Amino acid sequence: MKTLVIYTSQTGFTKKYSEWLAERMSADILELKDAKKKDDSFFAGYDAIVYAGWCMAEKLVKSGWYFKMSSAWKEKRLAVICVGGSPIDNPRIDGMLKNIISDEQRKYIRAFYCQGGFNYEKMNLPSRLVMKMFVKTLKNKKNATEEEKQMAEGISHSYDISDIKYLDPVVDYLNA
Ligand SMILES: Cc1cc2nc3c(=O)[nH]c(=O)nc-3n(C[C@H](O)[C@H](O)[C@H](O)COP(=O)(O)O)c2cc1C
Repeated sequence: MKTLVIYTSQTGFTKKYSEWLAERMSADILELKDAKKKDDSFFAGYDAIVYAGWCMAEKLVKSGWYFKMSSAWKEKRLAVICVGGSPIDNPRIDGMLKNIISDEQRKYIRAFYCQGGFNYEKMNLPSRLVMKMFVKTLKNKKNATEEEKQMAEGISHSYDISDIKYLDPVVDYLNA
């Protein structure tokens, strides 16, 4: 299975998962900005093409190009990986994975989630400000639930909950 992994990462978690996947699949790996420069004949050489991006407000960032291209790749094995700060057992993840691809796309693309973390040191200023406001809103919320209080506390500092094992279902799917 000749595989290509295309990724976008701001603080490094998605890059790390993409490199792990490329290693496990002996795949080629490209940043999205470089993939966009390639022509159709380049992609024709791959049996599987994966896009990995990070999630922002429950959306898969910069996924538009991949979804547009993938309508011509239906004969290949296709997957998107969404890397986020939420733990994999967060009940919102199923809904998010359903929302990032349409019913039509689901016929030929599989969506996966990998837990990453937060890295405020590497985050750009706009993202840091958004997160600061979000945490402040949650902390000041009257009648906040226990879950919201815990979330506000958890995401107010950097943490890393990534692990290569979260790629197991992706590898199984690509090798099936
Ligand atoms: C503005 C903003 C919004 C985010 N929204 C979500 C979210 O809805 N769900 C989630 O699990 N993580 C969310 N995150 C966390 C990132 O997805 C997480 O830090 C991810 O690991 C970043 O990947 P990267 O290191 O490849 O950039 C958000 C982060 C930022 C900065």
